[in-house]
Amino acid sequence: MKIAVIADIHGNRLALEAVLDDIARQGVDGTFNLGDLVSGPLEPNWVADILMDIDIPTVRGNHERELIDNPPDRLKPVDRFAQTQMEARHRGWINALPPTLALLDDIFLCHGTPTSDMDPWLDNWWDGRTVTTPDEATVAAKAEGFDYPLMLCGHTHVPRAVRLKDGRLIVNPGSVGLQMNLGSPDARYATIELRGGKYYPSFHAVPYDHFAAARQAEANGFPQWREALVTGWVGAAGLF
Ligand SMILES: [Fe+2]
Repeated sequence: MKIAVIADIHGNRLALEAVLDDIARQGVDGTFNLGDLVSGPLEPNWVADILMDIDIPTVRGNHERELIDNPPDRLKPVDRFAQTQMEARHRGWINALPPTLALLDDIFLCHGTPTSDMDPWLDNWWDGRTVTTPDEATVAAKAEGFDYPLMLCGHTHVPRAVRLKDGRLIVNPGSVGLQMNLGSPDARYATIELRGGKYYPSFHAVPYDHFAAARQAEANGFPQWREALVTGWVGAAGLF
């Protein structure tokens, strides 16, 4: 069995299409989506329509929670942009997404950690352009009580796999639509293969027309996103 994992699309339709094309070439048995779907100054509605159409197991991210819980005037600019673009069918779909999902007692999906869509799991939240890694005890503590051989998380936009001492594997596939500290604009995702009772993770970087995505961000009034989309580095102005 082989699966693909995507996360943190952030409204980047061009990156999503490139990743879905690449996944199609891999020949997987299923694709899972870990949230932060539409919040970005790009093409939130188009992304939502694609995701509604392919209808894959999906959990909501912290940005979906923001969209569900708040009126536009209480949202940060990126979320407000997405919310004002969205139509009723997109809102209905997002409102129905679960915060976590367990599949076949084997695979657990969450956005941040099993108990939080804001808490980072496999790395510490970026500080400027710097990412640091938490210690073993901190990572293991967040897995406590969740007895799944494979656990999938997103949120930090940093691709990483951690295998706990007891054999459980935690995988963050990185971000499809927004690179902040990898120094490369390529879209990221992961595949995981089950062979002989063991999960083998692989990470993928997919080139796409990131200049076109950057032009969309700039045209929509978010020049700081243009810089990140072109370079793969977050600028001093931040993004959210
Ligand atoms: Fe995100």
